[in-house]
Amino acid sequence: MSNRYPVPAAKVPPRNSRVLLSFADKSLALFNVADQFYAIDDSCPHQGASLCGGRLEGRVIQCCAHGLRFDLASGYLLNSTALKVANYPVEREGEQLYIVLDAEESGQ
Ligand code: FES
Repeated sequence: MSNRYPVPAAKVPPRNSRVLLSFADKSLALFNVADQFYAIDDSCPHQGASLCGGRLEGRVIQCCAHGLRFDLASGYLLNSTALKVANYPVEREGEQLYIVLDAEESGQ
């Protein structure tokens, strides 16, 4: 069964910004990059620093702690598959966004 988290309208990030969301004992960072939405765990797979406040370039987020960069779409370290941050599909139905929590690693 799908476990979808409806994102409250007030929490939906405007274009080219991000928000931190907490639910189901997780902290997730939700990014809006040119009206494409990406959701990842707010925990760098290197040493656990927050990724939400990192430097965003296109759909690449750079961790503030040691500078590793991750592709928001795949979750992988840029140009590598050595490290991956958990990422979650974001679905849209009209104006409502949902983060699909149990579809991690679905390869979408
Ligand atoms: S904790 Fe993110 S690069 Fe080290």
